[in-house]
Amino acid sequence: MHIVFAASECVPFAKTGGLADVLGALPAELTQLGHRVTVYMPLYRGVLEKLIRPKTAIASLTIPFAYYNRFVRIVDGGLRDGVQFYFVDCPELFDREGFYGARGGDYPDNAERFGLLARAVLEASKQLGVPDLFHVHDWQAALIPVYLRTTYYFDPVLRKVPCVLTVHNAGYQGWFPPKTTEQLLLPWDVFTMDKLEHFDTFNFLKGGIVYSDAITTVSPTYAKEIQTEEFGFGLESMFQHRAADLHGILNGVDTTAWNPATDALIAAHYSPRRLEGKQACRRDLLHAYALDAVPETTPVVGIVSRLATQKGFDLIMDIADELTQEEMVLLVLGSGEPHYEKFFAELAEKYPAKIAVHIGYDNVLAHKIEAGADIFLMPSRYEPCGLNQIYSLRYGTPPVVRATGGLEDTVQEWDAQTRTGTGFKFVGLEASHLLTALRRACAAFQDKPAWQQLQLNGMAQEFGWRQPAKQYVAVYEEVVRRRS
Ligand code: ADP
Ligand code: GLC
Repeated sequence: MHIVFAASECVPFAKTGGLADVLGALPAELTQLGHRVTVYMPLYRGVLEKLIRPKTAIASLTIPFAYYNRFVRIVDGGLRDGVQFYFVDCPELFDREGFYGARGGDYPDNAERFGLLARAVLEASKQLGVPDLFHVHDWQAALIPVYLRTTYYFDPVLRKVPCVLTVHNAGYQGWFPPKTTEQLLLPWDVFTMDKLEHFDTFNFLKGGIVYSDAITTVSPTYAKEIQTEEFGFGLESMFQHRAADLHGILNGVDTTAWNPATDALIAAHYSPRRLEGKQACRRDLLHAYALDAVPETTPVVGIVSRLATQKGFDLIMDIADELTQEEMVLLVLGSGEPHYEKFFAELAEKYPAKIAVHIGYDNVLAHKIEAGADIFLMPSRYEPCGLNQIYSLRYGTPPVVRATGGLEDTVQEWDAQTRTGTGFKFVGLEASHLLTALRRACAAFQDKPAWQQLQLNGMAQEFGWRQPAKQYVAVYEEVVRRRS
């Protein structure tokens, strides 16, 4: 099969979160299974420099808007791990400081930017290779199925091509004013309640859900959750309506980049058979946070995250003072919403011996935390899949998580009696429940042999991409069969 992926992020070119990790790994795994995969994404500022010998694949595509045209170049980024990369070059829209916005605000023309991405992918595919199906990701690529089934309906080469949409996060939908319909040259009849219209806004993700042949999301539990009011962000009835075509496929992780036995970014290597190196990683991490004096018996709790409401940091705010009374130190790496950045920075200032914070995005430090912390904390309000808790399992750093979405699916509660389980979970949104789970983890940490078993249980879990890739292929085959 030839599969065209379209997305707004992909490592190593552009990343704000796990979406980029998935795009960097799933296509390559599919090629291993014998499929041909092409990835399209925007040519953001800085991407060209990351390409080895970029070429122009298409010098100019005309993308019309109401009253004007934009002209797009398609850059051939060549093959990486067998995957063909193409970049949509439209400097007026993509050569900017941020991917989605700058200084806390979204770009006002994001509808135009990602509307253009959708049409550029369709037009470029017609020249560079019509796929057997499109696999599009999140709201930024969600207009592809909308165009396919409306303004491209009579296109002889595209009309039978199915589309699969993966929802990585239903909290981000791409909401724009109604006039977007006209601006993006879509027929007004898509702007109805059962299609793209949502409380008088033009909703990219809703369009993707309506017009895709199948929808996937990134864990089985999240596939159920988004059909409820608490997690659907207003689209729960749409997800319910498509329940028969909605699949939860748990993400894999890049087991080469995230492997404590070979990771070039950490102080010492270790594996289930030789765990000693983890102590050196812990010392190195504490040193990086200028907390060298922490005794070995005090657990080091790590956080690596976007600082967004989704991630549950308001729970930590609620119990900040109690947390500082616990026998533990907390090391934070994150960036995002300014009020969380401020909260953590102030907390670290107030309790310098207990809490240390690095505000920013730092891949090396992220690896050091996964390896050097004793416990990983991820109290997300909702978590479609979550990759960091999986990394922490692989690094022998048992996670404390809220039992939701992918966190529920990837972490099993530790049972000291049977010595089974991989981490600590809490239910509900009460901060006291988080505190209790964290206390359970800190107490378990004191029993060294049991703790080691807990670490080994997590390290023994399989989180590669082979299984998920096969599940995607099954979905692809089904949608292709249905349209042929
Ligand atoms: P989300 O995509 O919702 O942010 P995930 O857990 O799926 O959550 O993926 C987050 C990814 O981003 C992981 O690869 C993680 O290591 C990385 N990450 C998040 N914040 C930072 C940061 N401040 N510095 C380095 N890496 C980060
Ligand atoms: C989103 C989700 C995260 C998931 C990632 C990759 O960013 O918030 O839970 O792991 O996408 O699918």
